[in-house]
Amino acid sequence: MKRTAIVYFSEHHGNTKKIVQAIADAHEEVTLIDAATKIEVDLSGYERIGFASGIYAGCFARKLLTFAQINLPDKKEAFIIYTSAMNGRHYGDDIRALLDKRNARVLGTWHTRGFCTFGPLKLIGGAFRGRPGEEEIREALDFYENLGA
Ligand SMILES: Cc1cc2nc3c(=O)[nH]c(=O)nc-3n(C[C@H](O)[C@H](O)[C@H](O)COP(=O)(O)O)c2cc1C
Repeated sequence: MKRTAIVYFSEHHGNTKKIVQAIADAHEEVTLIDAATKIEVDLSGYERIGFASGIYAGCFARKLLTFAQINLPDKKEAFIIYTSAMNGRHYGDDIRALLDKRNARVLGTWHTRGFCTFGPLKLIGGAFRGRPGEEEIREALDFYENLGA
């Protein structure tokens, strides 16, 4: 069991939070850090660091990227989780570039669709209601549990 921090940002419907909370509830080695409220955190004591965010205008949350820029030590094991309404091909490239810059060893990326009421979607009651649900949470746990040694 590696001491693990998951830094997350989840401001729209708590979709991403639902995923990381399920991982933390099932794994006592996991500490959650909310990038919406934390600016400087000493991450040196964690062996593995996850970054999890909703996608906003095609990007990981600005606050989460800034958090990573400020706090991520060099050469950590890392993983990436995101939730989004669509399957954008480049989602996650921004955090990935930052991790590469810090010579992180990226163990994997996992994503799923999340309930969205942004913009015109609000008029039709939103898209992907109920997502992520039980099935996606199970998938996320599998992803985390199979990150490797
Ligand atoms: C301001 C805003 C912008 C968004 N932009 C995108 C986008 O570019 N692509 C996409 O697939 N989803 C987009 N979404 C949908 C969210 O990524 C999706 O609902 C996600 O699950 C939200 O996660 P959260 O509830 O953890 O914040 C956007 C949502 C909001 C509120």
